[in-house]
Amino acid sequence: MEGSFALSRPGVRIAPSLLAADFSRLADEVQAVERGGAEVLHLDVMDGHFVPNITFGPGLIKALRPHTTMFFDTHLMIDDPLQYAEAFAKAGSDLITFSSEATQSPREVVAEIRRLGKAVGVAISPGTPISAIETVMHDVDLVLVMSVWPGFGGQEFMPEVLPKVRELRTLLKPRQRLEVDGGIDPDTIVEAVRAGADTIVAGTSVFGQADPPTALEELRQRAVAARSQH
Ligand code: DX5
Ligand code: ZN
Repeated sequence: MEGSFALSRPGVRIAPSLLAADFSRLADEVQAVERGGAEVLHLDVMDGHFVPNITFGPGLIKALRPHTTMFFDTHLMIDDPLQYAEAFAKAGSDLITFSSEATQSPREVVAEIRRLGKAVGVAISPGTPISAIETVMHDVDLVLVMSVWPGFGGQEFMPEVLPKVRELRTLLKPRQRLEVDGGIDPDTIVEAVRAGADTIVAGTSVFGQADPPTALEELRQRAVAARSQH
């Protein structure tokens, strides 16, 4: 399956975030980064409750699904992920990452996403310690460390989350992916990868640039170089 390949491959990958794309021409935007070599598309779902912003839901993901073979990395920044996981699975997500702060029952959410046959991730906001996910961190495919406060694209990278990235890399198994999300640019990507991240979300620094495939390639080169020093 295309999807599992994208996560199982060793090395570092960049996941362009649709949030920064031109919403009036989403299929074209997605296909441009896919032609540029992106394997993973990051989809930021916000509900206006867990975060003070609203983006899109399963309908949009379903509409995009036939236009690309990229791995769909759905990042839920919503209350009650247990209730909505199935809709995002049916829409065509390959990975569903939920916000740890949005549920009292993370183990149930992990079990539900597994039942749906999808890869599962858990996210921690900048103020959330690793201890908050200790009951599930060894059972997920990916841990997402937010390097901005969730809610908006275009914010500044928070280097104070890097110690969590370093520690998580020592705690997770090699097959578990470690994703960093927020404020990534050609400089901060180096810091994130050196700290141990292998999956890097980039919104503004890809889709916000004049030529997204070229911007993606520059980020990839920086990431690969940083990885070799890791
Ligand atoms: C923020 C989202 C991010 C966002 C990143 O809450 O989770 O994925 O799209 O955008 P940039 O790369 O612009 O910081
Ligand atoms: Zn995100």
